[in-house]
Amino acid sequence: MAQAEFDNQAFRQALGSFTTGVTIITATAPDGTPIGLTANSFNSVSLDPPLVLWSLAKTSLSVDAFNEAEHWNVHVLSQHQQDLSNTFASRGEDKFKDISLEDGISNAPLIPDCSARFQCRNTVTHDGGDHLIFIGEVLDFDQQTLPPLVFQQGQYAMTARKPWEDVSLSSQPAAPQCSYNEDLLGYLIGRSHFQILYRMRKILDEQALEDSHFFALSVMNIQQRLTLEELNTHLDYTGHSLSEMDVDFLVRQDLIKKLDDDVYQLTSSGQEASLHHIAQAKAIEEELIEELGMGDVMALKLMLKRLINKTDPGLPDLWQEQDKK
Ligand SMILES: Cc1cc2nc3c(=O)[nH]c(=O)nc-3n(C[C@H](O)[C@H](O)[C@H](O)COP(=O)(O)O)c2cc1C
Repeated sequence: MAQAEFDNQAFRQALGSFTTGVTIITATAPDGTPIGLTANSFNSVSLDPPLVLWSLAKTSLSVDAFNEAEHWNVHVLSQHQQDLSNTFASRGEDKFKDISLEDGISNAPLIPDCSARFQCRNTVTHDGGDHLIFIGEVLDFDQQTLPPLVFQQGQYAMTARKPWEDVSLSSQPAAPQCSYNEDLLGYLIGRSHFQILYRMRKILDEQALEDSHFFALSVMNIQQRLTLEELNTHLDYTGHSLSEMDVDFLVRQDLIKKLDDDVYQLTSSGQEASLHHIAQAKAIEEELIEELGMGDVMALKLMLKRLINKTDPGLPDLWQEQDKK
């Protein structure tokens, strides 16, 4: 391709299709100052000997210090380290100020709570256009089961693992395109909801609670004092509502009590029951993490939050500070 035709911006964009992890590379400058930057150019080179590489823009403020450094550390960031990535992608501030560094085998700073870390000795530095390519021998490494942060098309992302084969809920032949089928988003979300609620049902049954009672107790755990009308506004999107009879039932069960002014509140046993439900919901989440893996559960939560925001019919904010009644 002739030089004049080369579109730098399109080139950058095309490179962004190559999904990478995100690392922070650290070293110590000759004057003892810790240096570091966010880099996604990290890659493996060789298993035997163990070699890795990364590249540094020649415009980087730390280029001289890295050129002098005998050792550098690579930190593969985990999903909850996005803020740290942003800090190390900025110039000129004290990037290490809130970090409790750990001791490594060299003088290069070692950052905690990463998915993986590689402590390296620089073996060779190559010129690479507007970057310098550092190749290092891995002297030590460690890994934690923390799902990694991902970078794609200029944005942070999360990974959701794809099974070797497409997941199909049934082994039946595919349903005709025009009918309800197991690949409809609404069906998938609805079924997941009911199957998770099914795991709650044992403890709800023990207390003879219906779904609407469970939802009402959950709302009242967050919003302490509510009229029946207010409570039902919060429940509206579930398709459930509480009748006077339901309220009487919860009062008789000593789960809620009526205050003077038509306002209801959880009793202490109502609070205890609700805490029990929350504990069960957390236990179910732990089971799901065990079954699906932490990374997939975190990616799923992110997608569900986006979906909840997009499909919100304008509900009152359950977590908003309540007016004093
Ligand atoms: C996700 C991400 C990946 C990056 N990868 C690299 C890289 O591989 N090499 C590089 O030189 N800069 C990279 N940068 C940019 C540097 O982090 C940024 O220029 C930083 O300010 C450099 O710091 P310094 O000038 O203090 O050394 C990346 C930034 C982000 C957000």
